[in-house]
Amino acid sequence: SAEPLVLGIETSCDETGIGIVRGRTLLSNTIASSMDEHARYGGVVPEVAARAHLEALQPALETALAESGVALADVDAVAVTSGPGLAGALMVGVGAAKSLAVSLGKPLYAVNHLVGHIAADILDAEAPPLEYPTVALLVSGGHTSLLLVRDLTGDVEMLGETMDDAAGEAFDKVARLLGLPYPGGPEIDRAAATGDPDAIRFPRGLSRASDMAKHRYDFSFSGLKTAVARWVEQREAAGAEIPVADVAASFREAVVDVLVTKALAACRDYDVPRLLLGGGVIANRRLRDVALERAAEQGVTVRIPPLSLCTDNGAMIAALASELIMSGRMPSTLQFGADSTLPV
Ligand code: KG4
Ligand code: ZN
Repeated sequence: SAEPLVLGIETSCDETGIGIVRGRTLLSNTIASSMDEHARYGGVVPEVAARAHLEALQPALETALAESGVALADVDAVAVTSGPGLAGALMVGVGAAKSLAVSLGKPLYAVNHLVGHIAADILDAEAPPLEYPTVALLVSGGHTSLLLVRDLTGDVEMLGETMDDAAGEAFDKVARLLGLPYPGGPEIDRAAATGDPDAIRFPRGLSRASDMAKHRYDFSFSGLKTAVARWVEQREAAGAEIPVADVAASFREAVVDVLVTKALAACRDYDVPRLLLGGGVIANRRLRDVALERAAEQGVTVRIPPLSLCTDNGAMIAALASELIMSGRMPSTLQFGADSTLPV
């Protein structure tokens, strides 16, 4: 068949993902997360994540094969995330992928994690085909990136990214200072439900006119986090109670506002009427609602893949390799290594 059967391996952060696709058809999306092991540290601990991948890979592979009914020997190609991500975590996946490809005698495709997030969209069987060009906003605990996608298999341009914390990381850190558990995103979301988003005007990072000249598509969330911390400290020093719901809602509004404003600015600047969202922070209802509402006002169509494909997973990695194979791309040599700062 012209449709390649591809096994994808993803280990760039705390999710061990094994995905199996045939062409654009999803056969398995198996994910094991070490999130619980990081909870008491309030964030992903690289060494802990790497060890967890070593333990989780083999069982995840067994599950993916069983679920898809695919025999390992029938796989046409192996794909793996080679970066960006946590170096030690990436190395586990890269090592496993090389061993598998060599032992199976099958080609190996090293792919970029961020481009993989975009490729997740093509596995959405409900959605019409992805059209180009499209602007993509990827928001997770590890990255916050704005990309211009002219072609998934060869023309993806990084427009901007976070200069400090990722948006999900900001949610996690602010949750922590409000005494909410990890991961903070869902907790802030829950607390914000009864809060007033206009109660406190928190800063929108890199949004002043002077910043927009140089960092039009870049993000910064550390100033926002500090502003929340200072606001809470001042309240505490005054012996006042902390209105957690209002702080959560106002913080969430600041993050959502800046994400949506910059993504739609890119759509306007490049005259692109399409915006694709990806990454675990897309679980945020407010982010989806504001993006949909403001995009509609601007005549921009928003695509949001199912959440199981938005968070880190191996299926998107397999999907990207499948596209590369169908477009005639040659496989990688075995000389590549993990590259924690791999560009798109
Ligand atoms: O893509 P993802 O599952 O993986 C990593 O980046 O590791 O994203 C996880 C991040 C965490 O920072 C989490 O707090 C955030 O996404 N997150 C959310 C929500 N659900 C998860 N952030 C805001 N609102 C949410 N509802
Ligand atoms: Zn990711």
